[in-house]
Amino acid sequence: MRIITFGTFDMFHIGHLNILERAKAKGHHLTVGVSADALNFSKKQRYPICPEQDRMRIIKSLSCVDEVFREDSLELKGEYIQQYKADCLVMGDDWVGRFDHFKELCKVEYLERTPGISTTALIEVVRSTTDTHS
Ligand code: CTP
Repeated sequence: MRIITFGTFDMFHIGHLNILERAKAKGHHLTVGVSADALNFSKKQRYPICPEQDRMRIIKSLSCVDEVFREDSLELKGEYIQQYKADCLVMGDDWVGRFDHFKELCKVEYLERTPGISTTALIEVVRSTTDTHS
């Protein structure tokens, strides 16, 4: 089974690795759409800490990942699912229900997030540590 998943994967952390390994375990081929810097800026009005070329290189280097592409638009998920011939879309459970309409194209599964870590939390830790020491 061919699996596809999407994310920003900024400041790569253990929650990212966990979901990618569990996604791969569901099939034999894992494609990862890494969201473009411009897409993040349009969503959150800030650029990721790590630029898209670096984020893509890190994801591509993982043994559980077979293929990586840049996700340029949130509106194109259906096209990406078809283009990469995915049989199953895997997302973290922060997205539960939000991708159910793709069930007409492929299976859709939501996996439990790793508790206690996120890029946003890491940025906050770094920021508060920097504030304390300056
Ligand atoms: N993810 C996860 N467990 C975490 C953090 C992320 O399983 N603790 C999953 C997300 O559900 C998503 C993928 O990793 O499927 C990429 O998530 P991303 O949004 O890039 O990571 P976050 O750390 O959640 O970043 P942010 O805080 O900016 O939302």
